[in-house]
Amino acid sequence: MEYLNVTVRPATENDLPAVLEIENLTFVSPWKEKDFRYELTENPVSNFWVIELEIKSQGLKSVLGFCDYWQTFDSATICKIAVHPEMQRHDLGSAMMDEIINDCAAKQVLTLTLEVRVSNSKAIAFYKKHGFREIVIKPHYYDNGEDALYMLLEIGNYAVDFSN
Ligand SMILES: CC(C)(COP(=O)(O)OP(=O)(O)OC[C@H]1O[C@@H](n2cnc3c(N)ncnc32)[C@H](O)[C@@H]1OP(=O)(O)O)[C@@H](O)C(=O)NCCC(=O)NCCS
Repeated sequence: MEYLNVTVRPATENDLPAVLEIENLTFVSPWKEKDFRYELTENPVSNFWVIELEIKSQGLKSVLGFCDYWQTFDSATICKIAVHPEMQRHDLGSAMMDEIINDCAAKQVLTLTLEVRVSNSKAIAFYKKHGFREIVIKPHYYDNGEDALYMLLEIGNYAVDFSN
């Protein structure tokens, strides 16, 4: 019987080829290798992780997705989250999001935010499933002029009032 193990763990230099492949397959304006190296080695606020599938009986390990979030004091923002296109809709993105939210809660983060392209309906559905709310549209946020939707999740019992 196959024994499958899925782990979310901090990224290492050895993960960069798999991360770059997924990045190039999933993003309109992909980051370059130097951008990920910066997250790995220099950015003091980054939390750069991969999700890895292990098939024990075959001695195989494969990186199927990654995420990167920045934490500054009691707020955090998700910069990247992606799953290999052939492995999407199998809860891998959710496994990474659960880790991010649990890690934020453990670090007393109050608000987790992100920007997403208004055309990226599957990511917007994904974020809403994890409790994020739509806050505001940021016009012409991306290089190609596309608007961003700014979304926010309150962690714990904290609630932000944007009504005023
Ligand atoms: C967004 C992303 C990370 C989600 O990862 P995933 O592993 O495919 O997501 P999950 O399997 O955990 O899906 C969880 C929920 O997200 C939503 N969702 C995911 N894919 C969807 C799709 N193609 N269409 C509609 N909703 C979708 C659904 O609500 C889904 O729950 P359900 O399956 O019970 O309906 C993945 O689609 C991805 O890598 N996209 C490309 C990169 C990207 O756009 N990243 C976000 C940039 S801001």
